[in-house]
Amino acid sequence: MWWRDAVVYQIYPRSFQDSDGDGIGDLRGITQRLDHLVYLGVDALWLSPIYPSPLADFGYDVSDYTGIDPQFGTLGDFDELVAAAHERGLRVLLDLVPCHTSIEHPWFREHPDRYIWSPVDGPPNNWRAAFGGGAWSRDEVSGRWYLHTFYPEQPDLDWRNPEVVAAMQDVVRFWLSHGVDGFRLDAVNVIVKDAELRDDPPATGGFPLPLVGESAELDHVYSGNRPEAIDALRAIREAAGDAFLVGEVYLPTSEYPRYLEVLDLVFAFELLFSPWEEPRLRAAIEPALELGRVAWVLSNHDFPRLASRLGPEHMRDAATLLLTLPGTAFVYQGDELGMIDGPGADPPFDRAGRDAFRHPMQWDASPTGGFTTGTPWLPLVDPELRSVEAQRGCPDSILEHYRRLIADRPRMRRGLNLGARW
Ligand code: NOJ
Repeated sequence: MWWRDAVVYQIYPRSFQDSDGDGIGDLRGITQRLDHLVYLGVDALWLSPIYPSPLADFGYDVSDYTGIDPQFGTLGDFDELVAAAHERGLRVLLDLVPCHTSIEHPWFREHPDRYIWSPVDGPPNNWRAAFGGGAWSRDEVSGRWYLHTFYPEQPDLDWRNPEVVAAMQDVVRFWLSHGVDGFRLDAVNVIVKDAELRDDPPATGGFPLPLVGESAELDHVYSGNRPEAIDALRAIREAAGDAFLVGEVYLPTSEYPRYLEVLDLVFAFELLFSPWEEPRLRAAIEPALELGRVAWVLSNHDFPRLASRLGPEHMRDAATLLLTLPGTAFVYQGDELGMIDGPGADPPFDRAGRDAFRHPMQWDASPTGGFTTGTPWLPLVDPELRSVEAQRGCPDSILEHYRRLIADRPRMRRGLNLGARW
């Protein structure tokens, strides 16, 4: 299993490398920069969504599961990227978004029964959306109310409908036929909802991960986190065969075992959110370590960047921890340079405030950082202070720190002799 001790590099395609001067990163740009990943020594890359999308949630609102958004290129560009990655020994993971589509996906009009609708004229329960507000909205066309766990532009699919299951299995097979090595599965703990649409009870406290707004006031035992989620995941596994599947399961570590019946790994979110204090870190790590199959991750496109969240003083230790824990580790693009949060955009692109964590990659010290020859969709943060070009070959740089840690992993693993589980 290639992923056992792998380091996976998360690419946020919009912000990695622009190849055509429109200020937006694209697939050809990624292909041009693959040698950075080889230099770093990672084993695989995960692409955040590249499918056609109206961008209400920057690609996590998919309007065609088997297409490539023209801003990113073509299917031909994708095939070239996969071939170029494989030539370099890099595996390729796609982001599969099975829980919801874009409201502009043709299914929403052509197959409304693939979505979850209120049986009454209004919200049938107290469910809250993850980014704030109620989880039910009125469809202006039909007048009926539909469920959306995230933005209103992201109606939830009904995984109790066999058509949804079959359609998503086809999607999985389609991308496998284009050579992908696995998938990061988005938001899979909310893939199935209570069949009776019962109210979520008030929160009892103690949920260890941050929740937004009123969503934090409820215990999400009916709006998601159903045992039936595993059946949906089994269907995905059936189509995926032995391709690598890592799940975004936004739950405490104690809830992971049933997901691991089907998935290879789940992200260890309690570590991501742990304050940088030894007892708290230990409390987050030990139970996950016990499970033997988590993906270690300290940052991604949804949360403040590592260097901003922990402070520059802990940035190196954070990398050391991430890359010395036994098992698979995920590195978010730019963390290897110590990139910090940027100003975002005004007005914001992302209503949930996540622009700041998604500024373009800093390849060189020029004002556009080598990212684009045009005007970047988000400004560069500080290429004059940190860039790949400036840090490459500089022994004290954070980039070389990451590189040494990754290079040392096979030796560390032999030294630790962790046995079969890890
Ligand atoms: C998790 C993704 O990482 C995030 O960016 C997205 O907004 C939600 N899932 C909804 O798809």
